[in-house]
Amino acid sequence: FLVDKGNYRHFMAKEIHEQPEVVGRTLAHYLDLAEGVARLPFELNFDPKSLSRVTISACGTAYYAGLVARYWLERFARLSVDIDIASEFRYRDPPLPEKGLMIVVSQSGETADTLAALRYAKEHGQHILSIVNVESSTIARESETVAKTLAGPEIGVASTKAFTCQLAVFACLALALGRARGVLTREQERALVAELIAAPGQMAEALNREAQIEPVARDVARATSVLYLGRGPSFPLSMEGALKLKELSYIHAEGYAAGELKHGPIALIDYAMPVIVLAPPDASLEKTVSNLQEVAARGGHLILIGSPRARHEAAAELAGYIEMPETVAGAFSALVYAVPVQLLAYHVATFMGKDVDQPRNLAKSVTVE
Ligand code: G6P
Repeated sequence: FLVDKGNYRHFMAKEIHEQPEVVGRTLAHYLDLAEGVARLPFELNFDPKSLSRVTISACGTAYYAGLVARYWLERFARLSVDIDIASEFRYRDPPLPEKGLMIVVSQSGETADTLAALRYAKEHGQHILSIVNVESSTIARESETVAKTLAGPEIGVASTKAFTCQLAVFACLALALGRARGVLTREQERALVAELIAAPGQMAEALNREAQIEPVARDVARATSVLYLGRGPSFPLSMEGALKLKELSYIHAEGYAAGELKHGPIALIDYAMPVIVLAPPDASLEKTVSNLQEVAARGGHLILIGSPRARHEAAAELAGYIEMPETVAGAFSALVYAVPVQLLAYHVATFMGKDVDQPRNLAKSVTVE
């Protein structure tokens, strides 16, 4: 196949901008839009009610998708979730439960460690479900059930649209399992599905605000180290933000749970190191804001990605602000907040003249250990 950049300078820019469409398409595949409920397009070969545990394994950005999904699977399906990066999981010799489900996540479906994690789980009697973007891949072929992401070919080395499509699949899976396990009522499910259906439009809105990211990117480009903070699903998203930034701009960056700030990273706070706080208006907003204020009180270099309400409640001096629509609230905000996080890394790197589609030393697909 031939994929071109269209009117974009880079594949990454094109892929970031495709997200409302491909996430919408992926959601449409896993939701019954007329009924407003989740509808898996495959049969599960196990009874969700008797599932004892879910294990998730993946590498890189796909692993962060799994970390976000843990919050959803626990909350909406009341499933206990064990998750680890594939290169650790495969050698840990972890005991796996009877009637356990293994979910592997991979854009390419060819990552060597992820494939080894799948095989380990299979040998230990787990049901295998893979969330993959390439349906003809080895991981897809070796899985009992394949939940495809409909992201289309992803060319940029740093994963963007595959990530948000993985989140979309996980969200629908969590709702479907939640219903099957008798955790969610129809009404609760409908309300959550309505939130999901709103996400692609909100992603488009976030993309329309790209101009406000450029001045923040110029500021971040001067840094030698950056800290990202978030709570709940915004915690793994903060790690994904840090990964994107270091991959593309070669600036050292770390994502941290905001509540863990005082156990270490608070010692790093000074006027120079940007601290990027992800603060969607969800259940943890108040706590995240209080962590933000701890940074402010120490003269930190604060950048907020949040709604006007978050900014108002923060009542702190900000070096940068990326405003997100107030309507992006609730459990699935990570889907939408992924957009400014990706755009920020993209703009920092292009401002610094880096090759965002082919960062040094990185490969799109890591097929050797
Ligand atoms: C590489 C890529 C990342 C990707 C990771 C996992 O590191 O550069 O973008 O997230 O592999 O790849 P997979 O194809 O398994 O999702």
